[in-house]
Amino acid sequence: MKEKITFLGIETSCDETAAAVIRENQNGTADILSNVVSSQIEEHKEFGGVVPELAARAHIENIEFIINRSLIESKISLKEIDGIAATAGPGLIVCLTVGLNIGKSIAAFSKKPFIGINHLEGHALSPGLENKIEFPYLLLLISGGHTQYLIVKDVNNYEQLGTTIDDALGEAFDKTAKMLNLGYPGGPNVEKYSKLGDKNFFKLPEPIINKAGCNLSFAGLKTAVLRESKKIDKNDKLKYNLAASFQNTINKILYKKTKVAIQFFKDKTKNKNVQLVIAGGVAANKSIRENLSKLAKEMNFKTIYPDIKFCGDNAAMIAWAGIKRFKKNLKNGINITAKSRWPLDEKAPYMKGPGLKL
Ligand code: KG4
Ligand code: ZN
Repeated sequence: MKEKITFLGIETSCDETAAAVIRENQNGTADILSNVVSSQIEEHKEFGGVVPELAARAHIENIEFIINRSLIESKISLKEIDGIAATAGPGLIVCLTVGLNIGKSIAAFSKKPFIGINHLEGHALSPGLENKIEFPYLLLLISGGHTQYLIVKDVNNYEQLGTTIDDALGEAFDKTAKMLNLGYPGGPNVEKYSKLGDKNFFKLPEPIINKAGCNLSFAGLKTAVLRESKKIDKNDKLKYNLAASFQNTINKILYKKTKVAIQFFKDKTKNKNVQLVIAGGVAANKSIRENLSKLAKEMNFKTIYPDIKFCGDNAAMIAWAGIKRFKKNLKNGINITAKSRWPLDEKAPYMKGPGLKL
């Protein structure tokens, strides 16, 4: 097999239209030949969240331009590319289909292999774009749709240790921003305004903090934010205090649950060199990074955080997952269809819905 594999990656699972050309280098990390992301913030701003039909339409309008740009910026031709990878799930079917179909078409007419990628695997392997990283590692995946602790044993080999039993962490940030009228996109705004407030002003709940292992829950916290937000109305100072208290409560929850997850990781892998990777959109949050770095010092483990541009949705991570799968001959080909649900650990119990016993 050729030494330096090059892939075109395509990502349209939610509200970012993205394409990237990535080449593996001799250090085992990636040369980012191009990484183009077009965000749809303006389309969804007035609705305060992603509207699937609008997102799909924007993908259709932009995708050809974005792919072309990524090829031009990479300064290589389609001929020099070894394969095409596009996100096949999980995500919004109407959105996924856009990137998936154009990826398959390019693969068919250029006679290149095609690989449909699990978006979560893209996030899980994303730190490898810049770091030479050994398996296994503990992954805290925090995004708009998912919140999980996983052991990343290898490409295509994941064990879920814990997950949210209700809202995803990004969702909790976005809803908090909406309740406090902090604007869209929510997560970055909550982080920004929380710096202006007193983090100890409101006492907010930390659901299931002392039970259920490293499973997480944010619904009760969200309800408490809603209750308090109704009382403070237009008082900006109190709004910032509530944002700061929310961020502080999230930090406390992640601190305690990560401690449990680290112990599970040690017990299961018998590995002494513990590495914690945080990936996904919420991993861009600096306060969360600092908080977990503090824990890392106390418990003597290493933290690896992807660069901010690789935390939110991007196609570099999809191309990278494509290269990794291609090299291991884990190809699924042109028949793969879009999937709204696609867990990394298929054996993990489904943790949502009524009747859940903790
Ligand atoms: O990974 P991502 O781009 O898309 C999904 O796969 O879901 O994650 C998006 C989520 C959104 O909920 C967004 O508000 C959140 O990541 N996010 C943040 C920050 N930047 C993005 N949450 C907290 N602090 C941030 N700085
Ligand atoms: Zn994502």
